[in-house]
Amino acid sequence: MSISGATRVAGVVGRPISHSMSPILHNAWLAAAGMDGVYVPFSVQPGRFTAFVDSLRGGTVSGLNVTLPFKGEALALADEATFRARTADAANVLVFREDGTILADNTDGLGMLRAFAEQAPGFDPKAGPVVILGAGGGSRGAAAAFVEAGCRDVRIVNRTLTKAQDIAEPLGAAAFALNEAAKAFDGAVAVVNATSAGLSGSPALDLPLEATPPSAVIMDMVYKPLKTPLLAQAEGLGRQTVDGLAMLIGQAVPSFEAFYGQTPPESVDVRALALKALGL
Ligand code: ATR
Repeated sequence: MSISGATRVAGVVGRPISHSMSPILHNAWLAAAGMDGVYVPFSVQPGRFTAFVDSLRGGTVSGLNVTLPFKGEALALADEATFRARTADAANVLVFREDGTILADNTDGLGMLRAFAEQAPGFDPKAGPVVILGAGGGSRGAAAAFVEAGCRDVRIVNRTLTKAQDIAEPLGAAAFALNEAAKAFDGAVAVVNATSAGLSGSPALDLPLEATPPSAVIMDMVYKPLKTPLLAQAEGLGRQTVDGLAMLIGQAVPSFEAFYGQTPPESVDVRALALKALGL
């Protein structure tokens, strides 16, 4: 990669950031497209996020992806925010304009829909109820994306029922407690795990997946491990599955377009690169 005085700079900010997969994806796309651009990781101390972002206003960088723990702060400091970022109550993309203003966006929900389109091409969010497990930022983004995609029956299942109700109410969705999961699964066309349960080292949720129809698609936002306990359970039942790595790549596509002004080239297999980085 050659870097010139005109190189377009974007990156990802979080803490910790060293395990972020985003630099691998974006730099592979930049190289394959022969573009004069670079994508770098920024590790910022908690408490210094706003000062860091403010210092970049006016075109110093073209954009940033934002990851934990700064997605809420990113939305709060932006001058404008898209509907999906406001609905998700979190931003994973900041676009820096020449006039010094910042636009916040959230492409996680779009990434989830792209993952379904890629790994479960027959899936139609309009075809029936979809179930989302969890009530954090990931769940909000997913719920907004399904509503925007035309799903008329979104069901949010969460350990803390009140948090599911908070998300469900403004979207016209339904809320269920974890012990009502079987009821929520009845007739579902898809189930999406947006909880942190099942992340490497944390115990998996114990869910009655057999209550879903055989045609239901089961997705997990977690990609470490790639085959989460939930996806393994789904496979055991013969259900079609969608993994979190497809969503990670799916959210990176619109990020790349926002930062570099063009669609990432298809000539490079970024999933293969990501699998290698995960040691798979
Ligand atoms: P995000 O990263 O999407 O913002 P978060 O805010 O960390 O996620 O939220 C994590 C979600 O996982 C929550 O919905 C949490 O349930 P509660 O709202 O009841 O806390 C859920 N979660 C985490 N561990 C869980 C477990 N062991 N069992 C059930 N739910 C769990």
